[in-house]
Amino acid sequence: MASSHVLFSLHILTFILLILSKQGDCCFTHIFCFGDSISDTGNLLKAFGNHYHPAVGSLPYGETYFGHPTGRYSDGRLILDFIAEAYKLPFIPPYLAGNSTKNFFHGVNFAFGGATALNRSFAGISTNNSLDTQLQWFKKLLPSILEEQAHNRDDIMRNALFLVGEIGGNDYNYPLFQGGTIDEVRRFVPNVISAISLAIQELIGLGAKTLLVPNNFPIGCVPVYLTLFQSKNKDDYDSKTRCIKRLNEFSQYHNAKLLEELEKLRQQYPGVAIIYADYYEASMNIYRNPMLGFTYPLVTCCGGEGPYNFSSNVRCGGQGSTVCSDPSKYASWDGIHFTEAAYKEIAHGVLNGSYSSPPISNTCSKIEHDSLNLLLTSA
Ligand SMILES: *[C@@H]1O[C@H](CO)[C@@H](O)[C@H](O)[C@H]1NC(C)=O
Ligand SMILES: *[C@@H]1O[C@H](CO)[C@@H](O)[C@H](O)[C@H]1NC(C)=O
Ligand SMILES: *[C@@H]1O[C@H](CO)[C@@H](O)[C@H](O)[C@H]1NC(C)=O
Ligand SMILES: *[C@@H]1O[C@H](CO)[C@@H](O)[C@H](O)[C@H]1NC(C)=O
Ligand SMILES: *[C@@H]1O[C@H](CO)[C@@H](O)[C@H](O)[C@H]1NC(C)=O
Repeated sequence: MASSHVLFSLHILTFILLILSKQGDCCFTHIFCFGDSISDTGNLLKAFGNHYHPAVGSLPYGETYFGHPTGRYSDGRLILDFIAEAYKLPFIPPYLAGNSTKNFFHGVNFAFGGATALNRSFAGISTNNSLDTQLQWFKKLLPSILEEQAHNRDDIMRNALFLVGEIGGNDYNYPLFQGGTIDEVRRFVPNVISAISLAIQELIGLGAKTLLVPNNFPIGCVPVYLTLFQSKNKDDYDSKTRCIKRLNEFSQYHNAKLLEELEKLRQQYPGVAIIYADYYEASMNIYRNPMLGFTYPLVTCCGGEGPYNFSSNVRCGGQGSTVCSDPSKYASWDGIHFTEAAYKEIAHGVLNGSYSSPPISNTCSKIEHDSLNLLLTSA
């Protein structure tokens, strides 16, 4: 009697483990992404065509992976693409390029090149397709996704990963590129953080259970900034990485405020996984660690002349621009955005838990443990 009981339990356990290992393959069923050109997979190109600089609708954009331009601001895949790959989902289609909710079976990408966290940037630039607009798009689309996929809202929202960012970088870029000072933009940080926080709270209100919220990149290592903020004073540069110290300190300031806000939200919403994705440190790893193979971490692969091969007059894809022969040796693709190789490094660091906190690698197993508990307690 007793031994058959044990055997029976063992069978159940094996069955449960089988289910769990299957679930482990596809932790999330959908990804919904909000952000700017770091994650845009074609929205800006679809909305405005290839009329802006950089010419994201022309080669060499896309040359490394897709072999043709897709609207991604890189030579290949973006962090979002590597995340989708890791969870065995197809690439997440851009909202404006999908012509039916059938295209959105595994999620939607609302990220839009140039988007800001705030409705209107402090430089006075009216930026439609800000974070708030992207949320409106999501809310408009959600009912038809639910209908098309014959699921209830809770199922989709519970099993979806929400990538909220990187966003906010442009809120600082616009004024800084127009001659604003770091002290000036520092004053916008609380507003930017609060816009990100409002978006997170709105998504949680709609039922989101897992949100991945990236911080900002070390802008002092990015060619456009290295070029604009060039200095003869050697003390302005980090002696090891050659990045501009006070620009990186500004990114760290934004990041500290973001983390503080996420900690508040975690207290407020204990049932929700709010994961901080440390794009900053994941990128610093590239600049600090020559062993990773980024031979020219601070030089633009695709651009013009100048000490960092970045020129505002000759942008990647435009007339007179040149492209390096091996983008995987560069961190910067076009002086602002990263190469596929750099995005891959950052994405893997976030996914394996080194640069996400709590580690996103635990969140998936947490989902498995939850269903295990559910099965055991209901048995
Ligand atoms: C709609 O999308 C599908 C799949 O992406 C594509 O094959 C088709 O050509 C599109 N139709 C129109 C009218 O754009
Ligand atoms: C952005 O806003 C401008 C002015 O408000 C408008 O003319 C334009 O159509 C908008 N573009 C998009 C894609 O919504
Ligand atoms: C942006 O504008 C909308 C109305 O157009 C408003 O509801 C929303 O609160 C604003 N968001 C921010 C972050 O200011
Ligand atoms: C920078 O651009 C020049 C001129 O196109 C090129 O010769 C040089 O190899 C580039 N430097 C790097 C590190 O790519
Ligand atoms: C995670 O990925 C990062 C970046 O690729 C790497 O440096 C680190 O060693 C990895 N950590 C683990 C535990 O695999």
